[in-house]
Amino acid sequence: MAVSSSFLRSKRFLIIVGLYVAGILIIRLNGFGEFRHADVNTTGRTLPVYRPPMMPGFGLESLVMVAGHAIYVSGVWTRESIYNESNWFLEQGQAGQVSTFIEHMKTGVEAAATDSMSLLIFSGGETRKGAGPRSEAQTYWLVADALGWFGHPQVASRAFTEEHARDSFENLSFSMCRFRELTGRYPSNTTIVSFKFKKRRFLELHAEALSLPKSTVHYLGVDPPIMVEATSGELSSAAVPFEQDPNGCQHTILTSKRAKRNPFARTIPYPAGCPEMSGVLLHCGNSKFSGQVPW
Ligand SMILES: *[C@@H]1O[C@H](CO)[C@@H](O)[C@H](O)[C@H]1NC(C)=O
Ligand SMILES: *[C@@H]1O[C@H](CO)[C@@H](O)[C@H](O)[C@H]1NC(C)=O
Ligand SMILES: *[C@@H]1O[C@H](CO)[C@@H](O)[C@H](O)[C@H]1NC(C)=O
Repeated sequence: MAVSSSFLRSKRFLIIVGLYVAGILIIRLNGFGEFRHADVNTTGRTLPVYRPPMMPGFGLESLVMVAGHAIYVSGVWTRESIYNESNWFLEQGQAGQVSTFIEHMKTGVEAAATDSMSLLIFSGGETRKGAGPRSEAQTYWLVADALGWFGHPQVASRAFTEEHARDSFENLSFSMCRFRELTGRYPSNTTIVSFKFKKRRFLELHAEALSLPKSTVHYLGVDPPIMVEATSGELSSAAVPFEQDPNGCQHTILTSKRAKRNPFARTIPYPAGCPEMSGVLLHCGNSKFSGQVPW
């Protein structure tokens, strides 16, 4: 009896020692509490596992992009509440513009409704600290949804979000990348919806910086009711800096705007989902990217 119980005890002891050694080996091999693989290229891990034809936008050909401007902060989704400006987190100078933002959504939805091969993207990140970690893109999608897609419910299944843009260059370039993630290809036709007074900036600076063929880019502009405040900074704080810095990555005015508009420290996932755009997306210089683009 005494012999066999001490034998059992020592067997249990051996098993415990064995597990302990195996545990140490596993921890040493795989790392523990540290980013052991941080130096390895992890780009592939962020790529969606979807492949055509399972991609959510597979088969769609043209892009309609609505640039976001503000965030809705109420939990009530009635029409009355949505049109009430005190339920929006607005920046200085945006007072009186909510109906124009909604007009942008409507214009985008209508453009998407007339082209059944189009994919609609609402673009804009979590840009306002005081609004909490909600993105402009989510606001736009939810408002359009709450308002019944302005009478075009068939657009809902073709409507998506781009949730990282911090300025107009990123509204366009990130949406191109997002289109690739959703469809597996790049748009053959792009329609941009924003303020009319930003048309030149989008077409002659951003589309140009991306080398998009002019004939494939269209613009639908709706201006706010009061123009003075809205347009005051257009030249000095956007158009001129973008002329000197097409990708918006080195001019202090543009880089500080990007920093300020990322209060929740989101990491930009692009160009992980659009490897063919890496060159143009990561370019940084005084003149536009001159290498290969996928269109
Ligand atoms: C708008 O919303 C605010 C705050 O929720 C409320 O106090 C105000 O009465 C609303 N205005 C209208 C016209 O409904
Ligand atoms: C594009 O998106 C940003 C960030 O979401 C937004 O604040 C900005 O006003 C938009 N730009 C234009 C030109 O519409
Ligand atoms: C591109 O989009 C515009 C605006 O939505 C539309 O008028 C035009 O017919 C489209 N062109 C092609 C070739 O799809």
